[in-house]
Amino acid sequence: MMIATCTLKGSQGATTLALALGTYSPASRRVVVEADLSGGDLSLRFGLPPTPGLVSLAAASRRDSGSDVLLRHSHTLSDGMRIVLAPVEPARCRAAVVALVAAPASVLRAAANVPGTVVILDFGRVDPDPPTLALLRLADALLVVTHRDSRGLTRLAAVAEEVRQWSPRPGLVVTGGGYPADEITTVLGLPVFGSIPRRPSRKQLQRAVTALAQRLQNREGSVR
Ligand SMILES: Nc1ncnc2c1ncn2[C@@H]1O[C@H](COP(=O)(O)OP(=O)(O)OP(=O)(O)O)[C@@H](O)[C@H]1O
Ligand SMILES: [Mg+2]
Repeated sequence: MMIATCTLKGSQGATTLALALGTYSPASRRVVVEADLSGGDLSLRFGLPPTPGLVSLAAASRRDSGSDVLLRHSHTLSDGMRIVLAPVEPARCRAAVVALVAAPASVLRAAANVPGTVVILDFGRVDPDPPTLALLRLADALLVVTHRDSRGLTRLAAVAEEVRQWSPRPGLVVTGGGYPADEITTVLGLPVFGSIPRRPSRKQLQRAVTALAQRLQNREGSVR
């Protein structure tokens, strides 16, 4: 299974959600891939070298499309979650994403198709340009993280029609308090797959993301 996380202008939480999915998803193999064109920040956060990572993965994907290529270019963290780190420089990130998209077959899809595997792509603040959209479309589901208040939802309403075209299964993960999920779904035409409290404790995040992962796995629609 492949899941993409992103935000739009005015909201935050794409990386928090991607890492939480990588930590709490019930899959036996969990891989988080930084695909944020504004540059990666996990290598700094985890104190890891950015190689192997997105750049080496993109180079390898030109000649090898096996299901283990993604794993070979990942780091393994202590809890078993794997991460594929993007370079800090936006231009190098973009070049890697362009190369990944141009590869003869998708190494991301190949890995995600292995039973018991979840691949999570963190797009950060998404800029819907052709390479990003091509990569986004590979994912089985797109999670747009958005604040649940009128500011966050008003921004989203302006692009909701576009967002619905970005993925075969687009939906929202709402953060903080505000409008009820059924109202959001009715107005925006996007299901609310999950909700995360404002400044969640570790336990709250675990509970929210476990429920979200289950909902995606069972192909359920909007929460109530
Ligand atoms: N549910 C939440 N409630 C309150 N603060 C949050 C929540 N989720 C994330 N944050 C905070 O927002 C900040 C950015 O979070 P995160 O790195 O997940 O966002 P991002 O969308 O990946 O941002 P960027 O565009 O910088 O990559 C962090 O300080 C994080 O603690
Ligand atoms: Mg981020």
